[in-house]
Amino acid sequence: MRYSFTMNTLVKTGGAWLVSPSLAAVRRMSVAGFATSSSSSVPNWEGGVSMVQGASRGIGLEFVRQLLENNKKGHVVATCRNPKEATSLINLKNSFSERLFIQKLDVTDETTIEESAESVRERYGSLNLLINATGILSIPGVLQPETTLNKVEKSSLMLAYEVNAVGPILVMKHMWPLLKAGGGNGTEREVAVVANLSARVGSIGDNKLGGWHSYRASKTALNQLTKNVSVELGRRKDPVVCILLHPGTVDTDLSRPFQRNVPEGKLFTKEYSVQKLLHIINNAKKQDNGKFFAWDGQEIPW
Ligand SMILES: NC(=O)c1ccc[n+]([C@@H]2O[C@H](COP(=O)([O-])OP(=O)(O)OC[C@H]3O[C@@H](n4cnc5c(N)ncnc54)[C@H](OP(=O)(O)O)[C@@H]3O)[C@@H](O)[C@H]2O)c1
Repeated sequence: MRYSFTMNTLVKTGGAWLVSPSLAAVRRMSVAGFATSSSSSVPNWEGGVSMVQGASRGIGLEFVRQLLENNKKGHVVATCRNPKEATSLINLKNSFSERLFIQKLDVTDETTIEESAESVRERYGSLNLLINATGILSIPGVLQPETTLNKVEKSSLMLAYEVNAVGPILVMKHMWPLLKAGGGNGTEREVAVVANLSARVGSIGDNKLGGWHSYRASKTALNQLTKNVSVELGRRKDPVVCILLHPGTVDTDLSRPFQRNVPEGKLFTKEYSVQKLLHIINNAKKQDNGKFFAWDGQEIPW
């Protein structure tokens, strides 16, 4: 049995209609295993609808900018913890008022994730692309990348895990009922795409340097959780592809304290990295489901 959304209703194809279900009801259905993503009764937004989670600055903000500029008919939902303080996003809103929607979402507060899903459902009915760009590596006085085992703190491990791994998986859980094939840069993608921003340091196979226990382990957890979801959705034959992306070392607030040892030519601009990542996203195929790609399209070992 397949269910799908219109703007205000949930439709049981070939059967009874359920009108305006609560989000909790929607979640129960998705937990119960009803596919919601492949029906044609969802409104078709020309250009598609993308969500960038973690869009206040850095790579997430650049995704928002390029999605709006590259696809003249695409709509973008940009989420962040403090919309009122996200000045760069607000500036973008001034240029793209019709196609950019800013929504509050803090990955450590599941209520805000549920509210965002509800808001997207009411406003657009579906999502073609979900990018989880949130991530923390260091927070002065709170979280420092550990150079040795002696520096490992339970609080750092838990915080990194909460923001970098638990948050994105909860966002996937709540957005999943909305995912629908389509969108893309002037093309109709044959799948919906979920792209989670990971990091090469999350690879166990690639770990030769050690250190950064909290960040590394949280990205490894994100990789496993994303891979796990990809297996589940693949088994259900949902037209959704989940991928993990390593953006390279990119000049943002996150990398700034650690840029000293980056070899010349290996520190990318946000513009360059996001351009490469969008190329991977726009060309994602069913066979890419569950893969971990670097910015240049090379697969990274687990
Ligand atoms: N930059 C690199 O070299 C690099 C390399 C490998 C992987 N990555 C990954 O790429 C992604 C983007 O990194 P970036 O360099 O753009 O980092 P960034 O400039 O530090 O931006 C991080 C973003 O995460 C948001 N965030 C933090 N905690 C949050 C929470 N609880 N709820 C919602 N959003 C939250 C921040 O929002 P606020 O403004 O509210 O703090 C900000 O928008 C991360 O997953 C990172 O691990 C980056």
